[in-house]
Amino acid sequence: MRHLAVIPGDGIGKEVVDVGLEIIDAISEISSFDYDAELFDIGSERYLRTGELITEEDFDDLGKKDAIYFGAIGDPRVKPGILEKGILLNMRARFDQYINLRPVTSWHPFVPLKKHFDFDICFLRENTEDFYMGAGGTFRNGRDARVTVKRKLYDLQMDLHPVSSSDDEYAFEIGLLSRKGIERFADHAFRTAIKRGEDRITLVDKANVCTSIYGMQREIFEARSKEYGIALDYMYVDAMAMAMIVRPHTFGTVAVPNLFGDILTDLGAQLQGGLGMGASGNINPEGVSMFEPIHGSAPDIAGQGKANPIAAVLAAKMMLDQLGYEEMGTLIQNAVRKCLDDGKFTRDLGGTLTTAEAGIEIKKAVLAQK
Ligand code: NAD
Ligand code: IPM
Ligand code: MN
Repeated sequence: MRHLAVIPGDGIGKEVVDVGLEIIDAISEISSFDYDAELFDIGSERYLRTGELITEEDFDDLGKKDAIYFGAIGDPRVKPGILEKGILLNMRARFDQYINLRPVTSWHPFVPLKKHFDFDICFLRENTEDFYMGAGGTFRNGRDARVTVKRKLYDLQMDLHPVSSSDDEYAFEIGLLSRKGIERFADHAFRTAIKRGEDRITLVDKANVCTSIYGMQREIFEARSKEYGIALDYMYVDAMAMAMIVRPHTFGTVAVPNLFGDILTDLGAQLQGGLGMGASGNINPEGVSMFEPIHGSAPDIAGQGKANPIAAVLAAKMMLDQLGYEEMGTLIQNAVRKCLDDGKFTRDLGGTLTTAEAGIEIKKAVLAQK
């Protein structure tokens, strides 16, 4: 029996998680997968009602689960960053989910570049460091500023000094990488390439500008490349954005730091047909992992039944894979594929179905594989 935590969150997060849960339920009907699910009220509504984001009690309860199934957070009524950092990034950091797995694969006919290329890119985004450390602030000329970072791996304080004599104000956000953090990320990336039967990986960075952080990252990846006997290619992130469009088929395992990985994987979702198609796993290989669609709460379409549930359904598949139920994961992917082949999908892909209707079709296609 597997114990799942479910956090629908905000906006279309609730709509697509409803579908994902139906699909997990269908899988349990036709297979040996047995589970229970506990719903967590975490998101903007609770925040606006009580001022709470995630409590220590929530963390305790979530930490006892086998996996977390997450929808999306974000609400136009709440200042940007409060929910995103207070909930989503907080969970990724607290559960030390240091790998963000975001596959970009041309596995179905609605991939816009499909007639030109077949591709199977495994994006591994570092998920706890870089510009996501929360090390930032503002200061005015004449006053020293202090930035404090306290995380599991860090207990660091630094003083910053004003750099101009004019009466000015500054804002800063520090990108921080740790040797340990990169080493474990690199190990995972090289092991992934080996598992996928590849002889090289790509490391994306901006080592021509952010020389300190990405210079250290290159040094570590290079050493690991020799150890694992797997070749290492470098791509600058700007060139990578271009290359993903013109030659996606030339990439396999791609390791990318946190901020650039966020951006490139939205592009990767669009390469697969749109944001409604991209799934994401926040992985702690030894702990509690969290699975979600790449997309956000989409306030522009929330509550209208327009959201494509496939990203969330594929996140459920990724969760089953990670829990060791790959066969059941494949049943989900087959069902989605069948619906795509049969024209049963939402309007973002040119279909006519609502979110719930698309979900019913996927569920039927799962049950039909009994
Ligand atoms: P978004 O991903 O919510 O939406 C971007 C665009 O894609 C919108 O036009 C939306 O309608 C469309 N879209 C997204 N998912 C779709 C789906 N499943 N089906 C059809 N269309 C879909 O990004 P945004 O608008 O930049 O952000 C909205 C809010 O979500 C913000 O508060 C942001 O911080 C938050 N956000 C949260 C997450 C997360 O929870 N993991 C991820 C990204 C953004
Ligand atoms: C994502 C989102 C998050 C990120 C935000 C909402 C914090 O964009 O999961 O891709 O930047 O990682
Ligand atoms: Mn994103």
